[in-house]
Amino acid sequence: MNILITGVTSGFGKQIAVDCIKNGFTVIGTGRRQNKLDELKNELGDNFIPLCFDIGDISATKMALQTLPNDILANIDVLINNAGLALGLESADKADISDWQAMINTNTLGLVNITHEILPFMVAKNDGYVINISSTAGNYPYFGANVYGATKAFVTQFSLNLRADLIGKKVRVTNIEPGLCGGTEFSNVRFHGDDDRAGKVYENVEFIRPEDISNMVLWLINQPKHININRLEVMPTAQTFAGLTVVKDL
Ligand SMILES: NC(=O)c1ccc[n+]([C@@H]2O[C@H](COP(=O)([O-])OP(=O)(O)OC[C@H]3O[C@@H](n4cnc5c(N)ncnc54)[C@H](OP(=O)(O)O)[C@@H]3O)[C@@H](O)[C@H]2O)c1
Repeated sequence: MNILITGVTSGFGKQIAVDCIKNGFTVIGTGRRQNKLDELKNELGDNFIPLCFDIGDISATKMALQTLPNDILANIDVLINNAGLALGLESADKADISDWQAMINTNTLGLVNITHEILPFMVAKNDGYVINISSTAGNYPYFGANVYGATKAFVTQFSLNLRADLIGKKVRVTNIEPGLCGGTEFSNVRFHGDDDRAGKVYENVEFIRPEDISNMVLWLINQPKHININRLEVMPTAQTFAGLTVVKDL
């Protein structure tokens, strides 16, 4: 089985890549950091094919995919659209416009670019599986999630619309919507390298771990082909829905 995972240089993507290799799959893993991809190549060996590019750049994405052998590019069994990031947690009026643009480029444009490249091969074979990593931020608003949450709402609706387009085809789509997850670089990236602030997000909380997400992905992949899990929303037990805020004397 050939599995293309975007964003394998850390977090969920890395764990999914490790577990997929353990299961005997061939993994094509992407990211922007060549040194991290080199480390993974050393760790994972011949069944790991690294591709270094910025997913927000459509021509870089196309060029990277073209370096794959034809028999692999035309035979991706599972595409896991995991690469993504949050930048900043300020209210919209204080947010940095370049952060917003980077999130839109990566989380939405990047995800649709690579899907557009791979999906026709899956449809031609009448076999394939697209797993998109969205977020509960796409389902429920929270302070400072403004554009990040909006990009994830896009991912969720794109997943559902893909399913609608794929009627009559044996190509499956699942949208995974995780809540608070630790053990990744997510908050370090969100807070622009302020690791102390990032660490505080996870203090005294039993959060979801990359291993948990990877287990879910493997469970999905191992479902019989006549079953499509449309969406999987998952939170740590410690997290639940926020109440709606009421401000008195406004
Ligand atoms: N952690 C959470 O609480 C949480 C919750 C819900 C959803 N998610 C989503 O889960 C996914 C994985 O997050 P994570 O927590 O594992 O974060 P992470 O540790 O920061 O991993 C993000 C991955 O995405 C890649 N990436 C980011 N921007 C990229 C770009 N422009 N081009 C190519 N690759 C890029 C990174 O690689 P490079 O830096 O090498 O490019 C990295 O491999 C993201 O989509 C995130 O939004 C996370």
